[in-house]
Amino acid sequence: MIEALSKKEIPEASMTQSTDRLRQSNRGAIHVDKVSVEFKRNGQAFSALAPVDLNVEAGAFVSFLGPSGCGKTTLLNVISGMLRPTTGSVQIDDTPVTRPIPLCNVVFQQHSLFPWMKVIDNVAFGPQQLGDGDPEGTARTFLSLVGLDKFATLYPAQLSGGMQQRVAIARALATYPPVLLMDEPFGALDAQTRTIMQEELLKIWANFSTTVIFVTHDIDEAIYLSDRIVVMRTAPGSVKEVIDVPIPRPRTPKIMQSEVFSRIRLRVIDLIREETLKIFNSTER
Ligand SMILES: Nc1ncnc2c1ncn2[C@@H]1O[C@H](COP(=O)(O)OP(=O)(O)OP(=O)(O)O)[C@@H](O)[C@H]1O
Ligand SMILES: [Mg+2]
Repeated sequence: MIEALSKKEIPEASMTQSTDRLRQSNRGAIHVDKVSVEFKRNGQAFSALAPVDLNVEAGAFVSFLGPSGCGKTTLLNVISGMLRPTTGSVQIDDTPVTRPIPLCNVVFQQHSLFPWMKVIDNVAFGPQQLGDGDPEGTARTFLSLVGLDKFATLYPAQLSGGMQQRVAIARALATYPPVLLMDEPFGALDAQTRTIMQEELLKIWANFSTTVIFVTHDIDEAIYLSDRIVVMRTAPGSVKEVIDVPIPRPRTPKIMQSEVFSRIRLRVIDLIREETLKIFNSTER
């Protein structure tokens, strides 16, 4: 598995072709305006998200951090159009999001792929649905981008977890969405593979210029990857603090030893600890 994930250089030609289309577009700004979500629990209204306001500029890499149950996935579902908010609205660029739209694709922790389709068909599916003239060619371009073109004719179950997530990323990018939402995409991977995936993701993002919202529980991962970290409050979920990560790019794992990295880590740990204690001390738990 590790061998297959070794740092393979991404082919320049495919990179240029895929990159230019988004680079020049400068699309993918996200506007979350007073979004709240109520669910019904045992017949009673339960507030999962208090009004959330959030602006993400086009091309930014933003992570959501917060205790389990604070509403990270709920907010992501609203942004992707999979969940209608109880109040408020989301816009991607000038388009109101009221249902899933091609401006935005999602990579989940697991099960983002159709198990009955070969890798190439998984990646070609989106482009085909959107009327791409050469869905297979597009799929090959994106499989090259994640270094998996040689695995095109295998089924997902024949790949390692890390490779499956790379296919899922290729699949999500193959329709050229200005926004990529990732919900704990590396959560099921072993630590070694996860580190390599983080580096791969940064390489892809640097060349693809899509806006990324990345949900994780891993503080170091969030700092390493992000321009900004949104730390969430819990019960109900909302934005507690937005932390800038002023560490220059390109980044390598070495930055984790820097003073600024440690300072941000301590701040985030403090904020999340406050929220976790709130849950721990809550009578409703
Ligand atoms: N469909 C639903 N019906 C009722 N309650 C829900 C539903 N989906 C989520 N919730 C509740 O809303 C709250 C937020 O859930 P959400 O899945 O967004 O949390 P999360 O921050 O993603 O947690 P985790 O880190 O564990 O993935 C939780 O209390 C959860 O139980
Ligand atoms: Mg979640």
